[in-house]
Amino acid sequence: MSSKENVVIIGNLKMNGSLVFYDSYLKKLKESLSNLRQVTVGLCLPYPYLFLAERLLKQSKIKWGSQNVGKFSHGAHTGEVSSEMLKDFSSTYVIIGHSERNTAYCESEENIADKFKMVKEWGMTPVLCVGETLIEREAGIMESVVQSQIKAVVSKYGADIFSDSIVAYEPIWAIGTDTAASPEQTNHMCNFIRKTIKKDSSQQVSNVKIIYGGSVNQKNTVQLFGLESVDGGLIGRSSLSTDEFTSICNLADSLSN
Ligand code: 13P
Repeated sequence: MSSKENVVIIGNLKMNGSLVFYDSYLKKLKESLSNLRQVTVGLCLPYPYLFLAERLLKQSKIKWGSQNVGKFSHGAHTGEVSSEMLKDFSSTYVIIGHSERNTAYCESEENIADKFKMVKEWGMTPVLCVGETLIEREAGIMESVVQSQIKAVVSKYGADIFSDSIVAYEPIWAIGTDTAASPEQTNHMCNFIRKTIKKDSSQQVSNVKIIYGGSVNQKNTVQLFGLESVDGGLIGRSSLSTDEFTSICNLADSLSN
C-alpha cells in the first residue's frame, strides 16, 4: 500500500435530511474534520440546503456542492437548476450521471456530456459517475460499458475537458447493497478509466481524480482508498452519520504522507 497525496472524500447525501438535520450535521462535521491534514472533503447536498452549507462551512476546509445540475444556462426549463445558481452558493462539486438518476429519470449520455461541459465552464468540479450493472459484469463487458460512458463526454467535448475533474467508478451492483467491489475489481477499473481518458487526450490533460463509490464504510476504507489507482471515494449511506463519515475521512487522511 502506497502513501497517498490529495485524497478526496465526497459525501453524497442523496434525498435525505431536513433543515434541522443539516444544521446539526454541518456544524458537527465542521468541528470533527477540522484537523484533517491532506484529505479534501466535499458534501453533495440536496439543492435547498446549499445556502446553509455556504453559511456554516465558509470558514472550514469542507467544500460542498450538488447531486445534479441542469444542462442549460437559463430559461424555460421548469424544475431545473443551473450551474450559475449553484455557483451563487459557492458550490465546488457537482455529481453528474449518477446511476440513480440515469435509471429513474432516463438521463441520456448527451445530457450528461452537456452538464459536464456547463459545470466546467462555471469553474466547478464535475464528479462524473460511471459503472456497470451486475448483468454487465457477469457478461464480462464492464470495460466496454464504462468506456462508452466516458466516450460520451470525450466524443462531444474532447478528453482534455477531464482536466481538474473527478470520475467516480460506481458499479451499480455495489451501490446500496453492502457488497463493495473488491480491491482487485476496483483497482482494475480505476486503472482502466485512467487509461481510457489518457489515451484520447493531449499532453494537456491534468489533475483527473478517479474515485470509488459503492458500499464504502469505515471497515473497507483503508483497503479501497489505499490502492494506488484510487484517489478517494464517493460515500452514500455512510456519509449520513457524522461519526462514520468522520472515521472514513480520518482513515483516508492517515493514508497520506
Ligand atoms: P452507498 O455508499 O450507500 O452504497 O451509495 C454509494 C453512492 O451511490 C454514492 O454516490
